Amino acid sequence: MPCPFLKSLSPAYVRNYGANLLKQYGNYCPILTRGFRTLGDDETKCPFIQQNSIVSEAPKEMTEDIHSRSGPSYSYEKFFNEQISAKKKDYSYRVFRKVSRLAAEGVYPAALEGPDNRQVTVWCANDYLGTSRHATVQEAAVSAIRAHGTGAGGTRNIAGNSQMTEKLEAEIAKLHNKPAALIFSSCFVANDATLSTLAKILPNCIVYSDAGNHASMIQGIRNSRAPKHIFRHNDPIHLRELLEASPAGVPKLVVFETVHSMSGAICPLEEMCNIAHEYGALTFVDEVHAVGLYGKSGAGIGEERGIQDKIDIVSGTLGKAYGNVGGYIAGSSLLVDTVRSLAPGFIFTTALPPPVLAGSLASIRLLASEEGRGLRSKHQAIVRYLKLSLLVAGLPQMPSVSHIVPVPITGADKVAAVADSLMKRGHYVQAINYPTVARGTERLRFAPGPYHTPEMIDSLITALIEAFHENDILFNEFLKNGTCRECSMEYKVDLSHEEVYKYPMRVEVA
Ligand SMILES: Cc1ncc(COP(=O)(O)O)c(C=O)c1O
Repeated sequence: MPCPFLKSLSPAYVRNYGANLLKQYGNYCPILTRGFRTLGDDETKCPFIQQNSIVSEAPKEMTEDIHSRSGPSYSYEKFFNEQISAKKKDYSYRVFRKVSRLAAEGVYPAALEGPDNRQVTVWCANDYLGTSRHATVQEAAVSAIRAHGTGAGGTRNIAGNSQMTEKLEAEIAKLHNKPAALIFSSCFVANDATLSTLAKILPNCIVYSDAGNHASMIQGIRNSRAPKHIFRHNDPIHLRELLEASPAGVPKLVVFETVHSMSGAICPLEEMCNIAHEYGALTFVDEVHAVGLYGKSGAGIGEERGIQDKIDIVSGTLGKAYGNVGGYIAGSSLLVDTVRSLAPGFIFTTALPPPVLAGSLASIRLLASEEGRGLRSKHQAIVRYLKLSLLVAGLPQMPSVSHIVPVPITGADKVAAVADSLMKRGHYVQAINYPTVARGTERLRFAPGPYHTPEMIDSLITALIEAFHENDILFNEFLKNGTCRECSMEYKVDLSHEEVYKYPMRVEVA
């Protein structure tokens, strides 16, 4: 409908003076201002309304049925209450702990907890190497804020594509030995956006997904609506069986993680990649819990095993060992460009902000350096110390070959009770239950880092033993007076605190 106000003016006048008219009367126009504010008193100032009285109240017959449309409404609150009650009943309702981690030298890895700001030791953060509080990383982030502000200012297409953005992508590509990389607001988004886009656009694509895959990959595969087959966790034989039955010549994606986030298992990477390639599939490998932590420059298990080239698409996070936030993929230039051009999860969201870009770049460089290698070796030493200490105390642990140390405690209520008992004793570890892990496989998941000391671990072990007793959980004391209870063999644990960072742990059987 033409504007009744402008219509009364000659087209030449509007052409010549349109900009002035807009400046002078735009604020009074009920159409231009609709959606920004209510007109209120301004309405009376609109010269068009005043002169023409065209906008008037709607006649009664048009409004009288409005009330009759609002019949009995759905009981939204009742519905939400039922959902929450069900979660509470099966102990999967989550109550977030208020834990403010402290970054200062000599205090890290402690946090302030609860209403009294009690200081506790944190055992479950994925800031695996303490890079979130490393001076170089902090300085990079702070300088970036000073120079460029706190926010990106828009999507990559609009205001968010800075020199730093491109530098970070080039660094990630170099780290993974790939031609290109693309960053996302998180690795959840990276996995979801990449998998949903690729599996949707590749014609008749079939996805082969590890049964232990993280929710982000499951979500991406689901969102693609491509047909999928699930192979047993880290089982190359099952993967082969499924691929053997697949039609030749159609695109396929084989999707799995290297270090499993909840069990600490590491997949048979080379075998799985070889099988996938034998059947013409692309490999999508999530290295989220490996980047920064394994390999000479911290590129993950692919680098550690010298087989980065077997991974077609690698995904990683900037939010765990790199101590920032954000996620990424790296792969061939055309594949990355395709995701960049087609994935809504990449396109329609604000870009990563300057401090995160600068902090991540500094962190990747730090962990690729000699200092990074030093942090990694301290990390592995303290992990071994914890595993050994659990063993010696006869406490249960799941067989993990990585830095993740899960202690199984069956039952969501039991594991939560043990976590509470530990918190009382100054140790914070989050209880892990459904839906993060399957029901019946609840656990405490410990992630010690290079800033945890052997003394802290000794104190944790004492607290764990007390917590198990407090909650009537039986466990087998492995040692009794230095002798194995099962076979009466004498064990000598060769572990002085000074040595803990220098040598691999040793348990010697006398
Ligand atoms: C295996 C795995 N992949 C992806 C993600 C998502 O990473 P981000 O925290 O960057 O979203 C996680 C997060 O915990 C994870 O464990």
